[in-house]
Amino acid sequence: MAQYARNAAAVAVIRLRNPPVNALSLTVLQALEDGLKRADADPSVKAVMICGENGKFSAGADIQGFSSPKRQGIALGPLVSLIERSEKPVVAAIEGIALGGGLEVALGCHFRVAHVQARMGLPEVTIGLLPGAEGTQRLPRLIGVPAALDLITTGRHIPATEALKLGLVDEVVEENTVEAGIRLANKLIASVSLENVSSKENRELCKHARILTGCPAGQPLGPRRLSLKPIPRLPNMEAFLSEALVKVKKQARGCLAPELCFQAVKAATEQPFADGVQRERELFNILLTSGQAQALQYAFFAERAVQRWTTLSGASWKSASPQPIRRAAVIGLGTMGRGIVTSLVKANIPVVALEQDVEYLNTGRKAVMLLLEREAMKMGQDAQSLDFHNPARLQFTVDFDGLRDVDLVIEAVFENMALKKEIFKKLSGICKPGAFLCTNTSALNIDEIASATSHPQQVIGTHFFSPAHVMRLLEIIYGRHTSPAAIATAMQLAKAMKKVGVVVGNCFGFVGNRMMFPYVQQAVFLLEEGSRPENVDQVIEDFGFKIGPFRMSDLAGLDVGWRSRKGQGLTGASLPPGTPARQRHGRRYSPLPDLLCEQGRFGQKTGKGWYQYEKAGGRTARPDPWLHSFLSEYRDTHQIKTRFIDQEEILERCLFSLINEGFNILAEGIASGPEHLDVIYINGYGWPKHKGGPMFYASTVGLPRILAKLQKYSEAHPDVPELRPSAFLKKLVAAGNPPLKEWMSCSGSQSSKL
Ligand code: 3HC
Ligand code: NAI
Repeated sequence: MAQYARNAAAVAVIRLRNPPVNALSLTVLQALEDGLKRADADPSVKAVMICGENGKFSAGADIQGFSSPKRQGIALGPLVSLIERSEKPVVAAIEGIALGGGLEVALGCHFRVAHVQARMGLPEVTIGLLPGAEGTQRLPRLIGVPAALDLITTGRHIPATEALKLGLVDEVVEENTVEAGIRLANKLIASVSLENVSSKENRELCKHARILTGCPAGQPLGPRRLSLKPIPRLPNMEAFLSEALVKVKKQARGCLAPELCFQAVKAATEQPFADGVQRERELFNILLTSGQAQALQYAFFAERAVQRWTTLSGASWKSASPQPIRRAAVIGLGTMGRGIVTSLVKANIPVVALEQDVEYLNTGRKAVMLLLEREAMKMGQDAQSLDFHNPARLQFTVDFDGLRDVDLVIEAVFENMALKKEIFKKLSGICKPGAFLCTNTSALNIDEIASATSHPQQVIGTHFFSPAHVMRLLEIIYGRHTSPAAIATAMQLAKAMKKVGVVVGNCFGFVGNRMMFPYVQQAVFLLEEGSRPENVDQVIEDFGFKIGPFRMSDLAGLDVGWRSRKGQGLTGASLPPGTPARQRHGRRYSPLPDLLCEQGRFGQKTGKGWYQYEKAGGRTARPDPWLHSFLSEYRDTHQIKTRFIDQEEILERCLFSLINEGFNILAEGIASGPEHLDVIYINGYGWPKHKGGPMFYASTVGLPRILAKLQKYSEAHPDVPELRPSAFLKKLVAAGNPPLKEWMSCSGSQSSKL
């Protein structure tokens, strides 16, 4: 709702109230409209102030409401117009956040005062929409087209100080913003009432008030009504807009909303306000009914739902308490350790960084310092808080004794079980009993690692993604003995590092990599049958992935998987003589990646992999004629008939096999809901957010179709168990293809948290 109150003076205060973020639900809008009408009808009210409850202005429209079938009632746009038309000055007092529709309400007000710590923005684009309450028409009139276009097409939040520079707010205060708003309202009242008094002294006062408010005599509010303002012209508007469109399209990567945001702002530059608003509404409705908006809004709520974690044994976020991490340690400063140290420093957690010897330590130290210098550059003035040259904040050592008083250790040494167990055994003897012992393993068994310690309840997997200081995902893996406090602490740590933690169970590859195996496997099988790496990558990138499986493999290094396969006895010296080249344990196996590694083709690092690069370490992938003839020879050797494989088959075999594994994971309770899998894929594997993650995507394709296709491919490739439809998928289809929210109740285990 919105609470109406009368200030002792002549100011009516309307306080938006809808915890936790004062989203503009229909009830809030109704109460806001009632409050405005009441203030208008009361002659003793001379000004109105709008603010929000609990130190937050508003996070905008109620996002849940967009998917509600009963989405009718008062529209926000006309209400913003109503505010603007008020004959009594209306002041917005912005604390905390004014986002989306919240900022649009503030744009309808005649004056805006913001607290110095407030953040503002129009993030609709991030949930597949555009500012649909006339914001695309008012904002460019207030701050100019380039700045408005930037805010609207990126959805970025800006601090109050930047908003002041842009002219988005009139005043920034450090004290109580509501009081500052009332003070401004009273000054405005004074400026109007003094106009009628003729003494010289009052005329001076009146002039002062007008300067303060920017209101010329006679029409006190006219220039403050943004709908009446002309768009600030640019000398080269057309050229600017066409350049901006190219940039927006490039960044959008198949997402519709940024381009439609652009079109709405462009309409503001070409049409009168009312027509621009009309255009904004049309574009808004296109987006609202697009599947992309639904996917992005699902992703928004999914990210929040995974915070409410549960485990198979019933532990949950409700009862587990995180422990404070006053000091942490990282073991191993290779590719991952460096990024992890950087993330911890950025989260203001003092770190001890440990390496195996002085040489590795020096290399690691240099790399960490370089990363931190770069982060500091990006942070500008705020970088001082990092203080990473201070040994109390960041210390480098080769001595395990330095780990005695840390509250948490993250191990990031080579992916080798024996080495990891040795390290955990050592940690168990050195660290205090309450210290949490985390491993960054990508696939190894957490329980086996924990078995090397005397405190297995303190051991947990914290699987970062490369580069660890950039990627948002933290997969948090609990073992058989992991305590709820360890899970809660890891989740808290993720939050402190501004990452999204997702709690999952222990199995080979956990969730992300386990689902990735069949996807990569299919990609390689497709090469055997007739595709080329660039064909497969193109299809996957057109779908919206940032990078296809072969470009990804070249980037990560083919040798990583090769080492792992050798370790599993799938290739290399330990392979029993007589093993068929394309079969392991009765299943189809492709030796193609192994053959490339044997040729020293490790990907970007060696300048050759699935593609060729300009040099070792080069980044521009070019199709490689050598690889094409290598593939032809390979097919000849193994008597595989090359066939043309169309885009549909490439996409379905790669994605449906990944999704199929997702259903197995859900059935086993490794993840407590499909939203976990989706959050993992969006934040760790480059799945296009506007397609909602693999399981959401499956729900949009329709489970019967996925099942039918898997059955078809499985019949064609009976030696590939990954294509055999999951029993859980079959069960869901038999249950009538229920909506994603109901999947878990069909599994008989958990219920959805969405
Ligand atoms: N509608 C409905 N619920 C919302 C919401 C919104 N606009 N914004 C936040 N919430 C809910 C969250 O789902 C969460 O619920 P939960 O506790 O049940 O999980 C709760 O509020 C708290 O949110 P966060 O956990 O995200 O809290 P934070 O403090 O981390 O972040 C925030 C707060 C910055 C406001 C963040 O929630 C956010 O970015 N919200 C979305 C803002 C947005 O996109 N606004 C545009 C809406 S569309 C619009 O206005 C259309 C208009 O142009 C017509
Ligand atoms: P890396 O080979 O780049 O670095 C490992 C580091 O550990 C080396 O600097 C090495 O000197 C150090 N080390 C080895 N033994 C040590 C010991 N006894 N004491 C202290 N330090 C020791 O390896 P990378 O890629 O950083 O991987 C580390 C872990 O993270 C592995 O378990 C890996 O599976 C996992 N991982 C890797 C990802 C990647 O993309 N590279 C992604 C996610 C997880």
